[in-house]
Amino acid sequence: MFDRIDHLGIAVHSIESYVELYRDTLGMEFLGEDVVEEQGVRVAFFAVGESKIELIEPTNDTGPIAKFLARNGEGIHHVAFGCGDIEGARASVASQGVRLLSEQPLDGAHGKLISFMHPKDTGRVLMEMVQRRHDSEDA
Ligand code: CO
Repeated sequence: MFDRIDHLGIAVHSIESYVELYRDTLGMEFLGEDVVEEQGVRVAFFAVGESKIELIEPTNDTGPIAKFLARNGEGIHHVAFGCGDIEGARASVASQGVRLLSEQPLDGAHGKLISFMHPKDTGRVLMEMVQRRHDSEDA
């Protein structure tokens, strides 16, 4: 069902203040930024082999990332598993009792479909599913 850790999501107050760390100090290729208005976030991706680091910065004070930062400070926010069929993955985990946080897949960064599982059903780890646009895609 899942074939890789697509990315780790890390909540930060300011993406700009961490570009130097990930790109220069850690030597990870910067893959670009995107704004996901409906989730109130700006995101930036860095490549680590076939996986990525996703830095997530809030664009308002009321979205889930702003609340996470207020409660926990900066740090790891979620793990995302890549799949080729997000509808199938949603149906599979839901049929085994894992609640989903949305009725339908959501539009994530770079136009990819994503879904989150309820962390109370996954050992208090926020898990995201992300569907690749193409099987060969690595970004
Ligand atoms: Co993510």
